[in-house]
Amino acid sequence: SEDIYILAVETSCDETAASVVRNGRDVLSNVISSQIDLHKQYGGVVPEIASRKHVEKINPVIHEALEQSKISLQDIDAIGVTYGPGLVGALLVGLSAAKALAFAVKKPLVGVHHIEGHISANYIENKEFTPPFVCLIVSGGHTHLVHVKDYGEYEILGKTRDDAAGEAYDKIARAIGLGYPGGPKIDRLAKEGNPNAIDFPRAYLEDGSFDFSFSGLKSAVLNHLNRCKMMGEEINDRDIAASFQQSVIDVLVSKTVAAAKETGVDKIAMAGGVSANTALRKAMQEACGQENIFFQCPSPILCTDNAAMIGCAAYYEYIKGVRHGLDLNAVPSLKL
Ligand code: KG4
Ligand code: ZN
Repeated sequence: SEDIYILAVETSCDETAASVVRNGRDVLSNVISSQIDLHKQYGGVVPEIASRKHVEKINPVIHEALEQSKISLQDIDAIGVTYGPGLVGALLVGLSAAKALAFAVKKPLVGVHHIEGHISANYIENKEFTPPFVCLIVSGGHTHLVHVKDYGEYEILGKTRDDAAGEAYDKIARAIGLGYPGGPKIDRLAKEGNPNAIDFPRAYLEDGSFDFSFSGLKSAVLNHLNRCKMMGEEINDRDIAASFQQSVIDVLVSKTVAAAKETGVDKIAMAGGVSANTALRKAMQEACGQENIFFQCPSPILCTDNAAMIGCAAYYEYIKGVRHGLDLNAVPSLKL
């Protein structure tokens, strides 16, 4: 048949994931085995533990993804896999499994950039959504503002100079005793707080810059906490969560809208774990509405790490003729 089936594998951080995707946009299965409960007790992802858990889960997860899709390995056209960026030991588990399968069943291998996967998550639920657009990628490891000119054609407009947005969420959550991962917890707590209660700084940087910086905000929140403790004042964690989040959102939204205007595109997309944030989604939607910009964002399950987005990205690489050899190596700091 004309249909193209990609089996995709993703193990760059703490999710062991596999998926079967038809023609880039139809997800036939999307299996995710999360290690969050394992890493929680350490307050963050422990790389060595992540690698070991991936080794344990990778074959069952791939098997489950194939079974749910009802597509046999023989009918798969290519195997897509994340080869960077990410934790090297974690990446190597998925990459080795994908290479072994590609060799065993004589199918082509297509290596995928993790961020390209996140961006591609926007193609899955909205079949009409196509480049060009501006995409804000906000995750635990990355904060990028990218002009997506075409499939696989990216221009980075800006990125964080220090912490990633998700990293800031996780650090603030830890400081106010919420535990890991902090993003979803701050999201929930902020709903009960006043976003204007505390005037935390907003780092817009130089005029016209599309870069980000969250370390100053992080310090300001930590200083606020220390001051409250020293003065014996009550710590209102709801107001802190809401005010911190508002500072992050104000900067993310205004820079993304400014980037769309400057590049002249009329579509904005978001991707990555932090784009699951309810207040950010609402604020971006409102700002886009005011500027007559179309706003697209994946369902929360496709915002955080998954293999369906890797299958989607691999498809567009595959139809362009991209193939990788079995000597493909993991690249922890792979550039987009
Ligand atoms: O994309 P992702 O699953 O993994 C990386 O590639 O990093 O992103 C994980 C990050 C974590 O920092 C987590 O706290 C954050 O996304 N996150 C959120 C929300 N859900 C996950 N941050 C804010 N609000 C959320 N609802
Ligand atoms: Zn990610």
